[in-house]
Amino acid sequence: SAGLNVLAEKSGRYFGSATDNPELTDTAYTAILGDKNEFGIITPGNSMKWDATEPSRGTFTFTGGQQIVDFANANGQAIRGHNLVWHSQLPAWVTSGNFDKATLTSIMQNHITTLVTHWKGQLAQWDVVNEAFNDDGTFRQNVFYTTIGEDYIQIAFETARAADPDVKLCINDYNIEGSGAKATALYNLVSKLKAANAPIDCIGIQGHLIVGEVPSTLQANWAQFASLGVDVAITELDIRMTLPETDALLQQQAKDYATVVAACMNVSRCIGITIWDYTDKYSWVPQTFSGQGDACPWDSNLQKKPAYASIASALSA
Ligand code: G3I
Repeated sequence: SAGLNVLAEKSGRYFGSATDNPELTDTAYTAILGDKNEFGIITPGNSMKWDATEPSRGTFTFTGGQQIVDFANANGQAIRGHNLVWHSQLPAWVTSGNFDKATLTSIMQNHITTLVTHWKGQLAQWDVVNEAFNDDGTFRQNVFYTTIGEDYIQIAFETARAADPDVKLCINDYNIEGSGAKATALYNLVSKLKAANAPIDCIGIQGHLIVGEVPSTLQANWAQFASLGVDVAITELDIRMTLPETDALLQQQAKDYATVVAACMNVSRCIGITIWDYTDKYSWVPQTFSGQGDACPWDSNLQKKPAYASIASALSA
């Protein structure tokens, strides 16, 4: 078959995958990851995060992120930067530094400016702010929110834009796939940011879903996001199941992947889909959700599962 990215490109979209540095030594794995017919865009799963890039204040390391940028460049693939401001994988010097508002603002701005400048002109998108909300739609009480206030979000976007005027700037979150309190909160925030002329280009919808539990409101919700004048991107798609895997679960998973892809195809400003690694061999799911897994379109032997064909046909529709 043509390859998922080739099929996505027919409608002006892309199909991509996350990866992580330790996986790049697996040559059977990289042979597929580096095939731009399958994946037009690559996201570093960990190595551009704060703990990896600024482990101590003002000391930056780009090695891990650069390795993935080099891999993508060598294969003619684009890159999604992930991520600049997030409560997790944030070093203790930031979370426990007891900085005042002015100091933490400048620490955040320096982090953003340094990373965005380093990869200026080389990335297609950046997740500027990741997971700003609790599931009930209230703001997550991360150190940026509690020290700087809600303004940290607009400041982060303005800082990123000043460092690279061309990279698309996204706010990224999970449990906002379908309608609900969290999706509404994000909608309201982006609406407010747009009204304030904040430089926000896209809403990243992570898409960590469960087999048989895909929300019925995907398309309507994404169309509503897009009506704000931003793109939407599916940034971390995977659809996990309770193990052991059965044929019935694999068939349902294939159906569920197709539902997600179709929703994107039906929203003109849905620009593309990234899966949170393409193979069960390297999925984050089993480490986090005990007894669950097999969430990716390729199995742990790098063989295509039924979901592959259903994604391909949804991209072709
Ligand atoms: O780097 C250490 C290593 O030194 C240590 O030996 C090893 C032992 O456990 O841990 C390593 O850190 C791990 C890190 O990945 C790098 O491999 C952490 O334990 C592990 O928790 C961490 O998991 C990552 C997770 O984010 C952390 O929140 C996953 O790989 C990564 O896929 C996942 O990605 C997130 C997105 O960024 C945001 N959305 C949700 C998504 C899934 O959780």
